[in-house]
Amino acid sequence: MKNLCAFTFAALLFITNSANANRELASSNGCMGCHADTKFDGPPWPELAGKYKKFQGQADAAQIAGEKLRKGGFFKKVKAHQKLSPATATELMQWIIDGAN
Ligand code: HEC
Repeated sequence: MKNLCAFTFAALLFITNSANANRELASSNGCMGCHADTKFDGPPWPELAGKYKKFQGQADAAQIAGEKLRKGGFFKKVKAHQKLSPATATELMQWIIDGAN
């Protein structure tokens, strides 16, 4: 219950700060539970943005990366990745490709 409150509060913070539409999307899909701007459980956003920067300007890159994220690797299955819809995964990957700001 305590966690739920903390999460709701965090979610509200993101919603009020509506300048970053896709950060909200990441937040509402639970991405912030493991990824942040500094080292956390998952790789931090700036690191991911750096890794995916090479796809900038490639029309279908976000969709392909989104599918990959949903499938996961053989040893790395993250539930929060797998439960994304194809459209949301694409949108989030586009956000990361564009710098995860
Ligand atoms: C339960 C913790 C957790 C949550 C929640 C989570 N991730 Fe991850 N994510 C990880 C871990 C751990 C890795 C590194 C291992 C891997 O690559 O699968 C990772 C890796 C990634 C990668 C790099 C994949 C690659 O191989 O290049 C991307 C992109 C990513 N996450 C995006 C997201 C997005 C978007 C969300 C929200 C829908 C999200 N993650 C939610 C733990 C999480």
